[in-house]
Amino acid sequence: MRILMVCLGNICRSPLAEGILLNRIEKYNLDWKVDSAGTSSYHAGSLPDPRSITIAEKNGIDITYQRSRHFTVEDFDKFDLILTMDSSNYQNVKKLATNTTDINKIDLIMNYANPGRNIKVPDPYWGELGFEKVFGMLEKAVEGMLKRYVEEL
Ligand code: 4NP
Repeated sequence: MRILMVCLGNICRSPLAEGILLNRIEKYNLDWKVDSAGTSSYHAGSLPDPRSITIAEKNGIDITYQRSRHFTVEDFDKFDLILTMDSSNYQNVKKLATNTTDINKIDLIMNYANPGRNIKVPDPYWGELGFEKVFGMLEKAVEGMLKRYVEEL
């Protein structure tokens, strides 16, 4: 399985989602590919936000290898699942889709924790929600993903 986490800047939410999923993948020895990207290129080439680095570190996860990059249309071929954080990311990714196979790859990540509810991961960059709470939401979504896709869990 190849999974791409997507937010706006690719410095706060999606780097955490990538880090948490990679951490669990290593724990369960899964052969999955994980990456993240932003629907904007505002921060292309940058490290994750220091506040994301700190909350990840507190939870034993290193995300400092990550660099922000812009989502591209080629990502539809490179990934099986494209998990967005909010409806704005969702719509911006969907605009680039060229067929229904592409569209069917897109979801809101919190639907793995709360199926069908289309809950957003609030943007912590401007303080819409604290980084610790965002981390907790993403952990729940990742646990939901593992439960859905890995039978032995
Ligand atoms: P992210 O947060 O989408 O979770 O990475 C943001 C980062 C930067 C900006 C907005 C959101 N920005 O406007 O620069």
